[in-house]
Order: sequence, then structure tokens, then C-alpha cells
Amino acid sequence: MNAPANTDIASAVAEAQARFTADNPNSQAQLEKAAAFMPGGNTRTVLFYPPFPLTMTKGEGCSLWDLDGHRYIDFLGEYTAGLYGHSNPVIRAAIDKALDNGIVMGGQNQAEADLAAAIVERFHAIDRVRFTNSGTEGNLMAVSAARAFTNRPGVMVMAGGYHGSVFYFAPGGSPLNAPFPYVMGTYNDVEGCRDLIREQGSDLACVIVEPMQGGGGCIEASPEFLTMLRAETEKTGALLIFDEVMTSRLGPGGLQGLLGITPDLTSLGKYVGGGMSFGAFGGRADIIDRFDPRRDDAWPHAGTFNNNVLTMNAGLTGLTKVYTADVAESFNARGDVLRQSLNAMAEKLGAAVQFTGRGSMMTIHFRQGEIRNVDDAMAGRNELRPLLHMDMVSMGIYPAARGMFTLSLAHDEASFTALEDAMEEFLTSRASLLSA
Ligand SMILES: Cc1ncc(COP(=O)(O)O)c(C=O)c1O
Repeated sequence: MNAPANTDIASAVAEAQARFTADNPNSQAQLEKAAAFMPGGNTRTVLFYPPFPLTMTKGEGCSLWDLDGHRYIDFLGEYTAGLYGHSNPVIRAAIDKALDNGIVMGGQNQAEADLAAAIVERFHAIDRVRFTNSGTEGNLMAVSAARAFTNRPGVMVMAGGYHGSVFYFAPGGSPLNAPFPYVMGTYNDVEGCRDLIREQGSDLACVIVEPMQGGGGCIEASPEFLTMLRAETEKTGALLIFDEVMTSRLGPGGLQGLLGITPDLTSLGKYVGGGMSFGAFGGRADIIDRFDPRRDDAWPHAGTFNNNVLTMNAGLTGLTKVYTADVAESFNARGDVLRQSLNAMAEKLGAAVQFTGRGSMMTIHFRQGEIRNVDDAMAGRNELRPLLHMDMVSMGIYPAARGMFTLSLAHDEASFTALEDAMEEFLTSRASLLSA
């Protein structure tokens, strides 16, 4: 990589960004063109990073190509939705077959029932499921259903949580959040969150929580924390919602399956649609059956693309033929080994760096010591994130700009080795900036 020996992080980032700009004139021009019609040339905030994001033109297996012809090993993995890689032949065949029979049919289809059955079989807390178009929408429906079911207003969230564009609880929050009366707990704070739930009492409709915070930095919840949330919500009559939009990939039956905890409602998204636009919410039959349109008092829930045939067929094939329970187990076990190996490397090289996460999801943090919540994560030297990102890209590795690495089934051992080599190069060449 030939990193210059900078003494301060800001100049190292500036130099790395200048190198990136020189390497990627076509992506830069593309952004400028797009910016005439889209704000900042962007329609997904999370894909933007300075000086400008790469424009991708092609994906195959675990590889991506950009507009300037560079090839990358894809460790962004479409923020976990890319579990199947870019050209899984089994999923591709399912989509082709669905296309042969026509799309937008405006009717119920068989694949939706089969996908629902596969989900109910896999996720023990889901007795019934409904589909949406995104994880955001799945969460909006789950929270709204909880408020209607309990006839209560309050929604408890965790600091650092992310449940979609209108449920953004990272530091700074968002003026666009869905206007529910929120109370915010500290992730993994057993005592504090217990008190908060008790204080809210019969005002609280639900607690929504990621059993591992994904976007917040792959921060695992302690089993004790989630068990407390389960027990306390049960006592006060609030519903417990697990947002498994990301974490459902971590085991055959999601993180709820691995932990043996049963939320009242669960939201899903990402890879469960086989790489097509997808979201879902499901859970206890007595709650979700309120959507049964045969009832006189049925809750309404439409959505033009809820049962889109491409999504339903791709998702069904993915879950039943590709991401089977055995594959889910062995895939995440490989991820655990990779994360442990990266942590061992950081330790050996004396870098104040750690990789948190579980199975096929991990995030790098530029600090040592336990990371239990967003405050711990923010205490890291996060100004190093853009440097890592620029350096990784220059070495043909494409992670999320925030330092999240996600595995896909298309990754082979050679791609893991390439990541380890690139990380070793980064930790060695930037040692003077990383040791503090
Ligand atoms: C935990 C979690 N919930 C919900 C969402 C929103 O899903 P979508 O982007 O499909 O709306 C995300 C997206 O990253 C997520 O990570």
C-alpha cells in the first residue's frame, strides 16, 4: 500500500482521500452528474462518504467492480442483505422462473404462503408473519401493531439503535423519526432499563431492541439484559419486539433461536428476501391475527409490493435451498474464527483495535476495553474510520465506511486471507497512529 508516514490522523486521512480521488475520476464524475438531480447525488445516506462514494457497476460471487474498473472483495455485503453473494445460481434460477410467469399480478401467489411457512418454521417466536417492502416498514408496522394491541402510546428504544430511516437513535438522532412518544434506555444497562420499564408502567406499549446492535457497531446484548427485558415487559403488559432485520442471519432461527428468548413480535428484512427488496413482521398469533381480513374488526395493512413475486420466490429459495439450518451454523462459525483471528492479529501487533460482533457480522473499533453500548463505541478514536476505509479500498477490500464487515456465502478462504493480509498491512503501516 505504501502508506506515507504521517504523524497525525487528519493529514493521513487527507492524503488517503487525495489518493482515492486520483484513482477514481469516473466515480467522481458520476457523482457530480447525479448531484444535478439527487441531493448530493445520493438516495441512501449510508452509502455516502467523503470525498465521494464509488459507483459500482457489477457484482459477481464476492467481487464488485467500480466505474473506474477496480475490482474489490465485497465485505460490505449490502449491509447484511447480500448474504447470498452477487450471482448465486440457485437464487438466480428462482428469479428467472418467477419472471417467466409474469410480475405484478395483483393477486395472492403461492410463493408468499410457502415463504411464510418457511419463516414460521425457522423462527420460534413467529407464529404468523406479514410481509412489507423494507425493514423500516416492518418495524413501523410492528411498533404500530404493538400500540394498537396494547392501546398504549409509549415506545422504548435503546440509544445507538437503528430500526430504519424513521427510527434512528444514534447520537444526534433525527428530526425525521416517526413521531411516537419515545423513552430511551442504555443498551445492556440491566438496572437502568428495568427501572425505566417499571416507571413507564401502563404507558408503555413496547420495547424494540436489536438483540445485537448492528449499525451501532455490532454490539452484542448480554443474555441477562434481554432476559430482563423479556421478564419486565411481561410484567407490565408491554410487548417485546426483537428487530432481527440484521441478526436473523446469525443462526438457523436468528439470534432469538440462539439465545432461547421469545419476543412477542419480530421484524425481519435484508437477506430474507433473497437479495430483493424485503421486510416482514410477525410474532404471536393473537397479535398478528388481528390483521386477518376476514374479521369484522381487522386492522388494515396493504402494500403494493408486499407479496412481490420476485422477492417471494427468491426469499423462499434462499431460505429453503441455500441458507439451510446447517449452512447458517457453519457459515457463522467461519465468521467467528475470522473475527478471532483478526483480534489475535491486532493484539500481536500491539494495535489499540478490536473487532466486535458475532458470526458473519463484525465491526472494527479503535479502542480496547469492553464495548457494551454506543457511549463505549463513541469513546473509540473514530476519526480513524475514514483512514481504514480509504486504505482498505486502495487494497481492493470494500467494507462499510463505518468499519463494518459482513460476510457472504460467496466468500471463500482466499477472500478471508485477502482481508487478513490487508488488515495486517493497515495495522503495520499505520502503527504509529494506532498505538495510542
Ligand atoms: C436493525 C435494522 N433494522 C431495520 C433496518 C431497516 O431496514 P431497511 O433498510 O430495509 O428499511 C436496518 C437497516 O440497516 C437495520 O439494520
